[in-house]
Amino acid sequence: MGDVPSPLWLRTADVDHMRRDGRDEDPGHAWTAERLGALYPGTSCTLLDCGVMSGVTYAGLRDAGLPVDYTGIDVSPRVLDACRTEHPGARWLEMSVTDLAFGEGSFDVVNSRHLLECLPYYETAVREMFRVARTHVIIGFFQVPRAPEALLRRETDEGYIWLNRYDPGPFEELLHRLSREVETADLRHGPRRSRIYLCTKR
Ligand SMILES: C[S@@+](CC[C@H](N)C(=O)[O-])C[C@H]1O[C@@H](n2cnc3c(N)ncnc32)[C@H](O)[C@@H]1O
Repeated sequence: MGDVPSPLWLRTADVDHMRRDGRDEDPGHAWTAERLGALYPGTSCTLLDCGVMSGVTYAGLRDAGLPVDYTGIDVSPRVLDACRTEHPGARWLEMSVTDLAFGEGSFDVVNSRHLLECLPYYETAVREMFRVARTHVIIGFFQVPRAPEALLRRETDEGYIWLNRYDPGPFEELLHRLSREVETADLRHGPRRSRIYLCTKR
């Protein structure tokens, strides 16, 4: 593995770039809002969003008119400060998805979008998300799972970050063990692909 950050990672780590390149227009927001609206018709749900960056998911759900009681967690104080300034209507807490300080079933829905790719591996995070979810777990990937698995650690000015592509076999097996039902959506936005797993907890 080289220690030169890939152009993909340099772009992914840059909040302003993520905004400029239209990731906030990603069709995943509309898909998630439509599915949540169908699952919770005419009522609000509590939602924990893990790994929030610019508050893009909060803004996407709000713009879709979905009445969610939103809590966002992230490990980066800088990210959280920006979210608190830009979106004072939500709760923003410093916490890792691998060690969530909430009891079992604390939130109706637990969401992450483009987060699991940035962890050393996914299993602890997935199990934590399912533990604190009451009914649904939603996991979005920009690095769409595909074999062979590729685990890449990139150095940055602030340390390092992973940018992994996971083998879908064991990943989906884990989701099915923890879920009654797993719905998968493969989406495209220009040249970009993404995948969302909507899991109904067992
Ligand atoms: C690539 S960004 C994705 C942000 C946003 N969800 C999106 O869809 O654009 C990953 C975010 O996860 C955060 N993060 C990294 N490791 C984390 C962890 N262990 N727990 C919670 N957040 C984490 C980073 O600080 C960053 O804000």
